Amino acid sequence: MKIISVVGARPNFMKIAPFVHAVEAYNRQSGREKIEHILVHTGQHYDDRMSKVFFESLGIPEADIHLNVGSGSHAQQVGNTMMAFEKVIQEEQPDWVVVVGDVNATLACSVTAKKEHIKVCHIEAGLRSGDMDMPEEINRLVTDRLSDLLLTPDLLSTENLRHEGVAEEKIRFVGNVMIDTLEAHREKAEAMQIETILQENLLDPSQKLPGHIGEYSVLTMHRPSNVDKKEVLEPIVNFLLDEVCEKELLIWPIHPRTRKQLERFGLWEKVSKHSGIILLHPVNYHEMLKLNMSATSMLTDSGGLQEECCVLGTPCLTLRWNTERPITLKEHGGASTLVGNNVAAIREAYQKVSKTVRKPQRPELWDGKAAKRCLEALLEYTPQ
Ligand code: UD1
Repeated sequence: MKIISVVGARPNFMKIAPFVHAVEAYNRQSGREKIEHILVHTGQHYDDRMSKVFFESLGIPEADIHLNVGSGSHAQQVGNTMMAFEKVIQEEQPDWVVVVGDVNATLACSVTAKKEHIKVCHIEAGLRSGDMDMPEEINRLVTDRLSDLLLTPDLLSTENLRHEGVAEEKIRFVGNVMIDTLEAHREKAEAMQIETILQENLLDPSQKLPGHIGEYSVLTMHRPSNVDKKEVLEPIVNFLLDEVCEKELLIWPIHPRTRKQLERFGLWEKVSKHSGIILLHPVNYHEMLKLNMSATSMLTDSGGLQEECCVLGTPCLTLRWNTERPITLKEHGGASTLVGNNVAAIREAYQKVSKTVRKPQRPELWDGKAAKRCLEALLEYTPQ
């Protein structure tokens, strides 16, 4: 069997790592016909801190093929990826293309593969936010509509697919591969020192840090709906500076897109000069895990962090009005509250956080063994 797996952007790397390791483990068992595995990196994320460091720290082998598509509008990114990936497909003629998550690479490569009559397996299928303004929602819908094998992280996602009329035999509930990565790296992250993480990632290396970091919250924000409009971003930034930094330190590993927008809106000076904020470069996987483990709260618009907070029990204020991961919400036993991007709602939830006790949760099959089940599902697949 020949499989091409695709990655493009940062959140893909934690998802593909355990799958690649599952293929390697399968191939190590003697007496079996080996799986030929080719890893393709589309190049959507290209900065070392957004890409290379994850390959190194998660033990992902160097990609076999780089498409180098880089940044651009959605149409440019998807179009360039499709043109480059089509050549790969035609040359390699794989049995399967495996795509993960919901980024532009996921959409572009699933469409290209299907048009070349190659079977597509989607890991993390069935997530739905219902919000068609999110580029990721479009990516999820198209990818799932085309996929031959849809591997879901939770039963709510399985239900979404059934509701959309996906044939039962195409769907397999396998659990969450993100949690495979979390469990594999938890111990290493635990042993790290917060102070060292901060020192090594400071955006301004001359910033003086307190000798001991006491209470802090972590912020990550990069969604276009939060950072692309000044009238949305500015009040959030003011709330963070005036109210959060009054109570505790705010650690902010900043996404390149967000930094660009803060500069564009004339907000960068104010943020970068504030002594209560510790601005960091994008941090690596273990560093983020450690920061998350010890934080008072996580303020984020990331999907992956919502899941990690759920398992670690970190109170998570999700800076969105909806989520494709409802299983991480408090009403489903998780740690996350949807607070949107309205300051009054964020404030109200933030004020409750100090009274919240950490309550780690483990949704069904978030057990660190999901990738093995993904590979089994693929090997057991029989076309209908
Ligand atoms: C992408 C994903 C999003 C995911 C996020 C994680 C889509 C539609 N979006 O959003 O789902 O949550 O990744 O980061 O696929 N840039 C750099 N260096 C890089 C990459 C990007 O400077 O290595 C800058 C560029 O200016 C680029 C901007 O960031 O234009 C946005 O990058 P892009 O890949 O288009 O989307 P993300 O916002 O990162």
